[in-house]
This record gives sequence, C-alpha cells and structure tokens, in this order.
Amino acid sequence: MELIVLGAAAGGGLPQWNCAGGQSSQVWNKTRLPQSQASVAIGNERTGYVIINASPDLRQQILQTPQLHPKPNHPDGVRNTPIAAVIVTNADVDNVAGLLNLREKQRFSIYGPTKVLEILQENSIFAVLDPEFVTQRPLETTETISPIPGVEIELFTVAGKAPLYLEDSLGIQSGDLGFTSGIEIRTAASKTLVISSCAQIDQKLRERIETADHLLFDGTVFEDDEMPQLGLGEKTGRRMGHLPISGTDGPIVQLAHCNLKTKRFFHINNSNPIWDEQSLAHRTIRDAGWDICHDGLVFEI
Ligand code: MLT
Ligand code: MN
Repeated sequence: MELIVLGAAAGGGLPQWNCAGGQSSQVWNKTRLPQSQASVAIGNERTGYVIINASPDLRQQILQTPQLHPKPNHPDGVRNTPIAAVIVTNADVDNVAGLLNLREKQRFSIYGPTKVLEILQENSIFAVLDPEFVTQRPLETTETISPIPGVEIELFTVAGKAPLYLEDSLGIQSGDLGFTSGIEIRTAASKTLVISSCAQIDQKLRERIETADHLLFDGTVFEDDEMPQLGLGEKTGRRMGHLPISGTDGPIVQLAHCNLKTKRFFHINNSNPIWDEQSLAHRTIRDAGWDICHDGLVFEI
C-alpha cells in the first residue's frame, strides 16, 4: 500500500496567487518548486485509491499522478477512475473545493464528519455531485471503515475550529466545535496518522501518536505571528486554529518522545520558513527528527 502526498502546502498553496513575499517569492523567481494544497492519496493499482481531502488543486494533482489517471480498456468503459472514495476532515476551502472537479457522473463515495457533510449539503454548488452516483456517508469517530481492500480508516476529533468563512454566520471565534478531525490509516504493515489541522496536542492525541508508525502533521506556521511579521496578513496561526511548530505546546516539544518511523510536516503555509532548507527553522525541525512533505512524495504504509 502506498501513500502519495498530492499536495504539501496549506491553503493558498506555494506560491499563493497574490503573494510575492514569504516563501512564495522564491517560486516566482524559479529558485524553488511550487507546492500544491494539502491532500494525500492512499492505495495501490489493484485496490484503487482513497483521497484524503479534496484540495482546490485536485485536477492538477490528478494530472501529475499517473496512479490516479483513468485507464484505457477498463471494464467500466472509457469513463473510469481509480479514485474510490474521498474523505474530508473539515470543511475548509482547501479541503473541499476540489470535490467540484469530481463531477461528471462518476461513482465514488464521500466520507466525513456529520458537521462537514452538512456544510456541503447546505451549499447548493456541491449538488453538482449527483447523489445518484456520489454517495455522501457521515463517519462517526467510533467507526472504522474499509473504503478499499486492505485499508482501515478511522476519524478522530482534533482541537480546531470551523472554517474561517463560516465564523461570522456561526458566530464563533475559536474553540473545539468538532469541525476538525484527523485520520488514522491502518494497513497490515503500519499505522499512519494524517492531521492537517491541530489547535492543541492533548494527552489523548499524544497517546494515539505514540503508537503510530508514520505521522503527517499540521505544519501551517513555524512562529505563531510569522504572517503579520512578514506583512502577509493579520492572522496568527493560533487565530486560524493551528499550533505553531516552535511553541512549547507545539509538535516538536510535545511529540519529542514519540519514536515513529517517520514524522513529517504537511499543510505548510507559504509564510513558513521550514520550506527553505537553508533556514534555521528547517535545521531546527531536522535536528528534532522531523522532515517536510513535498508534492509527489510517495512512501509505503
Ligand atoms: C486553515 O487551514 O486554517 C484554512 O485553510 C485557512 C483558510 O481557509 O484560508
Ligand atoms: Mn487549511
């Protein structure tokens, strides 16, 4: 079974379309490769694939990933796909907008927390996913599903908050409202956790991570206030529901004792200096046993 990082960057991507600062500038001047918005595929040629979060870059990610292409001479006909299911972990734009690329009367399933699927159902643009072909199935945190053979998947609640675009209508600012989840993926060989949003590492989460083999963890910002510092906006990482990597309550300190086979940051914002291999921040995460994801990274799970 393989895990393919389809996109390693946080919302906005690297570079962000309207940004010439932060790490984006190096991509515009062609000294750094672009990175698309966070998404992961798991599976293999025989089982098909499950996509975790449908980023706005999904069409480009499919183009770049031969494993996800439709096949000639397929029993279903010329319209076919190896994508069997999409799991959405929250309703942020960078996690759901890509679903719109998957219209055109193709059978697949969408799984996600009840609250997230309700947000999709309330927004009529997602009606392009014809329910006759696309089943939407709420996933409880107590439940294990096997959307493709040989893979068991479980959702778990992570501290976080509702998408920024719903803050006003829901009248919320922060706090755990059950809008954000992580994913545990179990195969015969390993246990992998994918957590693209996390506002707090509590004892329960720490214990779950301690028993995993591979971890993809929220790497949105290195310093809480790096966006304001770089003139990229007013919001801090914490304000957006993301723990800064370098904080004493952040992943480097809180997960230092966890002996995983791999620990990688993903959902990395274009403000984050860990993109730059020459930076102190990058050296800090490497010295702490972490690495960063990049588009197209593949590993066995
Ligand atoms: C986040 O991860 O906090 C969001 O993607 C931010 C956003 O919606 O711009
Ligand atoms: Mn995001």
